[in-house]
Amino acid sequence: MKTETTIQGLSASLSPARAARKMIGFVPTMGNLHEGHLNLVREAKKLCDVVVVSIFVNPIQFGPDEDFDSYPRTLEQDQRLLAEVGCDIVFAPTVEQMYGTQPRLTNISVSGITEDLCGLQRPGHFDGVAVVVTKLFNMVQPTYAFFGEKDYQQLAVIRQFVRDLNIPLEVIGVPIARAEDGLALSSRNGYLSPEHRALAPTIYQSLKTAAADLQAGTALAQVLANLAQTLTDAGFVVDYVEARSPQLHKIEQFDQDVVLFVAAKLGETRLIDNLQVKYNA
Ligand code: PAF
Repeated sequence: MKTETTIQGLSASLSPARAARKMIGFVPTMGNLHEGHLNLVREAKKLCDVVVVSIFVNPIQFGPDEDFDSYPRTLEQDQRLLAEVGCDIVFAPTVEQMYGTQPRLTNISVSGITEDLCGLQRPGHFDGVAVVVTKLFNMVQPTYAFFGEKDYQQLAVIRQFVRDLNIPLEVIGVPIARAEDGLALSSRNGYLSPEHRALAPTIYQSLKTAAADLQAGTALAQVLANLAQTLTDAGFVVDYVEARSPQLHKIEQFDQDVVLFVAAKLGETRLIDNLQVKYNA
């Protein structure tokens, strides 16, 4: 496995694969890798000849009060894990390598699906994701790019701009990886105190209860209200509890497949999760 830190180095490492028209799989990450990321790499290995993983903590997707400075940076450990799962190339550029020294005057903004859910509390976040992911796509030029369904809204945004801008690759969504107790894996779980870590699986448990209640005929509004109440009673500060269509359209009733979304804080740590619920008429 090679590690490249420059765009030129990445191109040189990829040129034999490009010349041989090999399938290139790409997994963009911000590092501090866990089983969820490694699953993305395993999926990429199944479909592709060469797998590239980027590790880049992207400053422009963090708000001024967010955790950019303290975001865990664990490159050596990440490299070890990636070598074990058969990653071929790690791309770990510096901020200067990614953004240069000239001001950036171009933005990528996906309207309609970025204003609410996580976009409401994190203005500009999805623009920052869209810009960095587009830059990375142009640098790697993959056949397939892999993203986790945990960041469901992010995945929808990426699918949208890839379609809108005819970016020549296929986006693959991979189901959420969970700890044994159901907590969705996230680099931010490491911030939780032992007490909060013990409480955190309540999110997934209450999402599953909500799904069962929906399927048993409880009204959607009631299910969402119960879900928010359960989390508040357990000690979470709920940011949002929402139901959307798989394409993120607002829905009033459970008369189609639905995705239930939760964002809630334990102390300073903001956790997100979602659960897809099938509608069986
Ligand atoms: O999901 C992430 O880790 C990041 O948002 C991504 C897609 C790597 C862009 O920085």
